[in-house]
Amino acid sequence: MFPQHIIARKRDGHALTREEIAAFVRGATDGSWADYQLSALLMAIFIKGMTPEETAHYTDAMMRSGVVADLSAVPGIKVDKHSTGGVGDKVSIPLAPMVVACGVPVPMISGRGLGHSGGTLDKLESIPGCTISLSPDRFIRQVNEIGIAVAGQTAELVPADKLMYALRDVTGSVPSIPLIASSIMSKKLASGADVICLDVKIGDGAFMKTIEDATRLSRLMVEIGKSFGKSVTAFITDMNQPLGLAVGNRLEVAEAFETLSGRGPADLETLCVEIGAEMVHRAGKAPSVEAAKKLLHDNLHNGKALAKFQQFIRAQGGKLDNLDGFITAKFIETVKAPKAGYVKTIRALPIGLATMQLGGGRATKDDVIDPNVGIVLAQKIGAPVVKGDVLATLYASAPVTAAIRRAVQEAFEIVKDAVGIPPIILGTVR
Ligand code: URA
Repeated sequence: MFPQHIIARKRDGHALTREEIAAFVRGATDGSWADYQLSALLMAIFIKGMTPEETAHYTDAMMRSGVVADLSAVPGIKVDKHSTGGVGDKVSIPLAPMVVACGVPVPMISGRGLGHSGGTLDKLESIPGCTISLSPDRFIRQVNEIGIAVAGQTAELVPADKLMYALRDVTGSVPSIPLIASSIMSKKLASGADVICLDVKIGDGAFMKTIEDATRLSRLMVEIGKSFGKSVTAFITDMNQPLGLAVGNRLEVAEAFETLSGRGPADLETLCVEIGAEMVHRAGKAPSVEAAKKLLHDNLHNGKALAKFQQFIRAQGGKLDNLDGFITAKFIETVKAPKAGYVKTIRALPIGLATMQLGGGRATKDDVIDPNVGIVLAQKIGAPVVKGDVLATLYASAPVTAAIRRAVQEAFEIVKDAVGIPPIILGTVR
């Protein structure tokens, strides 16, 4: 089966067979397909789509491209979570230790930044010494010992997704429902979790722009999970403004640290508690979702969630006892409100793109991310501002260009009339 024949079949709109999909995934895993052939088929899939059956075969082949973690020796129900990606979306970093502090094991296989959206792995790697390259044995041992491990795709854990993900990132083939569903679900199935919670982002800074697409993606992932015997809940959540205040790797880790200390921004804490409550309740560690929320809130304020985060970072080779000296950007400057009024919109996409331009994202597969750069919002939607108020602070390693400054200022829409605070959770699919 030559790669070019499989590529041409998808280009011409045919559904691929299980064998053709297996050949594609094998080609990514053993290196027998070139990057340009993999990228061409990914783009053909992006344009022509895949049937639910093709998507299920693709997910299965990706999951089996490496080891599926056997966590049967870890007592209790294991729970994992994943986001479809957004701007300022650092939820996994505070959420995982919050949930583990409630007694629920969390084995998590995460991803890097994709396009304008950030990734858990890049954020964790911004902590000096912290590694996300865990062997399957170390991954399982760590979940057993401290309840939590967060790993990236490696040569042994979903290797096919590692390469497909990196190629999609730089070839414009990210926002495809079947490609996102299989990329996410292959990792979640390989992590060995029994319960999976998904955060499907919708809006300007998300890959899904409409509620219809977000619902379709949610249903597809829930169905794939169920066909593997997993319990899956998808939350559809707002990404029409960045989540929390910080965008950029270290800045987001610092915000996660503050959230774990009970001092996080309201939208971030709410989302962590809402998703966390589903995870804790489904794992049988709280009799109701409401009881789970209380447990999570308590752990944010009694130091247990932060202590679990610090233990997890130490287990993965890093150290973050406090935030002293953690952010070391060379150039720091502010963007100010050009007029008085209320913040109606903070378009997440230009904020994400500006962060990439500052060095916080990748333009090619081998680009190295600058962990120090990013943007911290000073306002959220609904805030009243007067002319000259700070809208955002930019952290950079080189002088900030006028174009970046302007893009950030123009991401804010300021209007005369008061604006309400939008809800963070827009729907749930089970
Ligand atoms: N997260 C993933 O892991 N994969 C995608 O394709 C998008 C978001």
